[in-house]
Amino acid sequence: MRKFTHKDNLIIRSNEMLNILFNIQSSGREYPAKDISEYELTESEKDHVTNIMRVNHSGEVAAQGLYIGHALLAKTQNQKKMMLNMASEEKDHLEWCDQRIKELNGNTSIFNPVWFSGSIAIGMLSSMTNDKNALGFIEETEKQVAEHLESNINKIPKKDNKTYSILKKMKSDEEHHGETARASGSSKLSNNLKNIMKITAGFMKFASYKI
Ligand SMILES: [Fe+2]
Ligand SMILES: [Fe+2]
Repeated sequence: MRKFTHKDNLIIRSNEMLNILFNIQSSGREYPAKDISEYELTESEKDHVTNIMRVNHSGEVAAQGLYIGHALLAKTQNQKKMMLNMASEEKDHLEWCDQRIKELNGNTSIFNPVWFSGSIAIGMLSSMTNDKNALGFIEETEKQVAEHLESNINKIPKKDNKTYSILKKMKSDEEHHGETARASGSSKLSNNLKNIMKITAGFMKFASYKI
């Protein structure tokens, strides 16, 4: 049997990394709003919902980056598989938000490349020490995202059942992701780090709500 040289291993590893970076597929679940009829929104309601969904779309771009960053530096195959599974489900969310924004004739945020690359770096940083700390970061992120989605649900027009169905499904997925991280042995994060995460997310929400 052929023995792999150091160079062979480097090539295998870099191919693996490229695959993670550029090859995340959606899990293929159906658009939650598919069979729900459109409620006639006023122009200002449309703008409001578009802005909300633009923020969520950016959040899902960031989620792609975070899970990719975590997968790149996962310490075990199990952890890597978990990260990639969650990235696939986040890709569904990304596509659902994109579709809803298109239905409302809106645009996604121009800052998305910044959120994506920054989140890969954050995901890699979070994974540097060990998998338990990385899971702690994920559990807290998903908790904050689920709270954010709940507040969105209360802000959209009551009759916008299409957006409601998307937000509701995303929220339940994010809760499930958080629960998976917790059940897999996540470490507790310090309150300082939790606050820094809230401030960083707040900045992203503010910028993506505008453009
Ligand atoms: Fe998500
Ligand atoms: Fe999630």
